[in-house]
Amino acid sequence: VKAHRDISPGFGGPALKAYLNAKTAKVNAFLDSYLPEETRAPETLHRAMRYSVFAGGKRIRPIFTVAGAEAVGGCEDRVIPLAAAIELIHAYSLIHDDLPALDDDDYRRGRLSSHKVFGEAIAILAGDALLTKAFELLADRRHFDGVDPALLLDVAKQVGHTAGSTCMVGGQVVDLESEGKEVDLPLLEYIHVNKTGNLIVTSVTSGARLCGANAGHLRRLTRYGECVGLMFQITDDILDVEGARDAMGKEAGADQIRGKATFPGLLGVSESRERAAELTERAIESLQDFGREADPLRALAAYLRDRDR
Ligand code: IPE
Ligand code: IPE
Ligand code: MG
Ligand code: MG
Ligand code: MG
Repeated sequence: VKAHRDISPGFGGPALKAYLNAKTAKVNAFLDSYLPEETRAPETLHRAMRYSVFAGGKRIRPIFTVAGAEAVGGCEDRVIPLAAAIELIHAYSLIHDDLPALDDDDYRRGRLSSHKVFGEAIAILAGDALLTKAFELLADRRHFDGVDPALLLDVAKQVGHTAGSTCMVGGQVVDLESEGKEVDLPLLEYIHVNKTGNLIVTSVTSGARLCGANAGHLRRLTRYGECVGLMFQITDDILDVEGARDAMGKEAGADQIRGKATFPGLLGVSESRERAAELTERAIESLQDFGREADPLRALAAYLRDRDR
């Protein structure tokens, strides 16, 4: 509740909602024009890629990319392709995350998981193709007009690093290896920061970098992203315990069944909520040197703390 006080009155619920809708529409339009049509061979593969990309995801990572860019005075058009590339990586990660060999979830965003519709082989390959497409996009100069090629290369490296073995994939491995085991708080934080938090940090900072962020901006945006990123996975864990299946579109209670290392599992729901609230406040505090142009980031933090999906 306290965090709400720090948000300017001009950027409350309706303004944030309009902001989210506008940015989502831009990202969706880009993804739709960029991804191969469903009628393009091999059709099954392209249908599977589109099935997961256009499944009603919240698009919070691309929205973070745009909001990070705007916080340093940039404009959305410069970063929409980068934002879309990050969403492609996210989409791939969830297709693979749901596979029987990983979390074995039959539902995602209120619909059957990719492997339930297309079979495991096509789901794996659709994930591969989405991940690859993200880097094809990042290397496509036509979509980054006016961006210094050396900077673009370095941002692509940052995205690759974040998606890789010492960040996202590494976090997923430790998440799997910790199933059914007792995990202490540092290890739990390691899992959450790596499987989820770092991609959120990169979403926020990479957009800002393409728009000329300086070292001070990036330090503060990194801190914001670290707090919001960990908070986001804590709220994901809480929703798995307390969330409504219809709102979330994925099966609740799955973490406990699989013996996952989660915040509610280790600390209980109410202390997990307190942690999420503290992280939200710290995230917003990290932005105190920014002006109104960072209001979307401030509002997003509070919105994600209170989310029901
Ligand atoms: C779910 O991410 C997986 C996590 C990293 C917690 P989101 O909650 O952003 O998934 P969608 O794309 O909105 O469905
Ligand atoms: C997903 O975490 C993290 C990645 C895929 C990188 P979860 O396994 O908790 O996500 P959900 O709950 O299935 O959406
Ligand atoms: Mg998982
Ligand atoms: Mg999962
Ligand atoms: Mg989860």
